[in-house]
Amino acid sequence: MRKRIILTTAIAAVALMALSGCAGGRADTASTDAAAGFPADSTIGVALPSKTSENWVLAGGLFEDGLKEAGFTGDVQYAGASTTVKDQQDQISAMVTNGAKVIIIGAADGGQLATQVQAAQDAGAVVIAYDRLILNTEAVDYYVAYDNFKVGELQGQALLDGLATKKANGPYNIELFSGSSDDANSAVFFDGAMSVLQPKIDDGTLVVASGQTDIKQTATAGWKAENAQNRMDALLTSTYGTIALDGVLSPNDTLARAIITSVKGAGKDIPIVTGQDSEAESVKSIMAGEQYSTINKDTRVLVAQAIAMAEALQKGETVEVNDTTSYDNGAKIVPAYLLPPVIVTQENAAEAYANDPVLAPLTE
Ligand code: BGC
Repeated sequence: MRKRIILTTAIAAVALMALSGCAGGRADTASTDAAAGFPADSTIGVALPSKTSENWVLAGGLFEDGLKEAGFTGDVQYAGASTTVKDQQDQISAMVTNGAKVIIIGAADGGQLATQVQAAQDAGAVVIAYDRLILNTEAVDYYVAYDNFKVGELQGQALLDGLATKKANGPYNIELFSGSSDDANSAVFFDGAMSVLQPKIDDGTLVVASGQTDIKQTATAGWKAENAQNRMDALLTSTYGTIALDGVLSPNDTLARAIITSVKGAGKDIPIVTGQDSEAESVKSIMAGEQYSTINKDTRVLVAQAIAMAEALQKGETVEVNDTTSYDNGAKIVPAYLLPPVIVTQENAAEAYANDPVLAPLTE
């Protein structure tokens, strides 16, 4: 067991939580009591955020098909791009009114759903937070996600490994990017990465030349590519007139490509850039030697796990979880089922995507 610090920065609340958790190879299987079950053709609501990355696009179709196959009536909704939070609040309220028995939520803003999920629970629905935690409410029954802290650790390590392939020794000039502050995952990814990078910053191996190391400075509002590109443009102008940029910590693939676009636009060499999500364009970029790494969080497996939870609830069986310590949402520790993320570079891409019909051909 090791101490894990999760910094959760949300618009609604800034909470500092010191949590005790254990890393990969979790042995702490636990379970919670199931409800009494419900009819097999019941409605299962799925509220997804706007399509800020490919994983969300994929998830919608997989939920539609998977819920149908399991015999449920699926009600899958996306929040719109501009009125995201209000859209999602309204969609969840409608699912409650329509009698959904389970509501699976990929939060648009994890800090702004407390009222809606409380109403869901009051109406007897079970609430499952999908991929992103819902904060500051006891009305979240389960969380299903890839291990977010591990994602960050893998990104931090990939950045170090990539830098070592560029030149044997530091100091290396790097910049740090993080995700949207309304997504509870963003701080966990960042903290995971910094658990690896901070000691190397402290010993001088890594130099964040801009001095911007605080998550408030590194955040990318809305996970939007244009915001990352603009910040990278500004950093190149302010800091990299004469010195080289060796590496960039990017929290996902969409932002990684935006960062690379910015660097190319400035006529500079492409640094080592990390990513996440295994988006097709980034896998191509990795194979072409531009982006350095991504993370494989197979959306098919995550959706299947969420649907398995709904099936267990339908049958009145115990819902399987494997982590009951890591995800304190500010009101309770949410029992979670965490899946293991996999780091992918040019070296292991073919192996990592061997069973993915879309990505495997890109690695040939
Ligand atoms: C997900 C990432 C994704 C990001 C932007 C996060 O909550 O975990 O996989 O890249 O949202 O959509």
